Amino acid sequence: MTGRGWHGAWGLTRLCGATATFPARTPLCAGGSVIDSSFKPERDVVHYNDWAPTYEDSKVQRIRNDIHQSLVDWAASSGIQPKRILDVGCGTGALLRRVGPAFPDAELNGVDISPNMVKEASRKVPKGLRVHFLQGPAEKLPFEDGGFDLVVTTICFHHWRSRVEGIAEVHRVLAPGGRFYIADHFAIGWLRALFIAFRCRDRCHTPRELNRMLRDAGFSVQGWKRLYKLWGWLPLIQGVVAEKRP
Ligand SMILES: C[S@@+](CC[C@H](N)C(=O)[O-])C[C@H]1O[C@@H](n2cnc3c(N)ncnc32)[C@H](O)[C@@H]1O
Repeated sequence: MTGRGWHGAWGLTRLCGATATFPARTPLCAGGSVIDSSFKPERDVVHYNDWAPTYEDSKVQRIRNDIHQSLVDWAASSGIQPKRILDVGCGTGALLRRVGPAFPDAELNGVDISPNMVKEASRKVPKGLRVHFLQGPAEKLPFEDGGFDLVVTTICFHHWRSRVEGIAEVHRVLAPGGRFYIADHFAIGWLRALFIAFRCRDRCHTPRELNRMLRDAGFSVQGWKRLYKLWGWLPLIQGVVAEKRP
């Protein structure tokens, strides 16, 4: 399948905006570990650069807002009091604009691979919110070691060229005991069948695969949560929270 990939076929393009080109035969696993497909990160950047100015105008922004709020509520209900927060793949900064009021004492930071997304995010910062944006990839975060106590990422993880490298980078920039929240679609139930059918299972993981990747990187997985159901009943977005082992 070519072009905008499976998202377009299922009317989800506007939510996640995948631009991958999937070959006729994408190997799903090699030696038991999930490998990367022919996903083209540079096309992703072009796509999000073009989309950045109108990204939040889409009708599905309402869905994204609900996902963001579910994640923020989940993190806030855990009682954590982070001082420095990082959103990886922050897009136009919509999640951080919700994170701010939930953690008013925290310094907010966003990073995104798309320069135009970073530009839009900076333009949209409301007065009084302390937030810094930088351009860069999840796989090579432009931050020092151990500087954050909370890292979040929404509807972005499956875009990372290498999820293993991205997780290692998040682990590096977190302080011991720091938390990592991921909200994305994972290969569970109906979605698993969909990802297999459209040959993108290699970057849409099962909880078991992700748990293993997180553990291998030095995290302990704290739990999973269903964060968004399409039309109120069809599970679409799951969240996972992991803690950097001391
Ligand atoms: C579907 S959008 C989600 C944006 C935002 N997180 C949200 O919830 O609205 C995916 C975002 O991930 C960014 N992205 C894709 N690959 C990335 C990578 N490897 N590192 C950092 N950002 C990436 C894109 O530029 C885009 O802004």
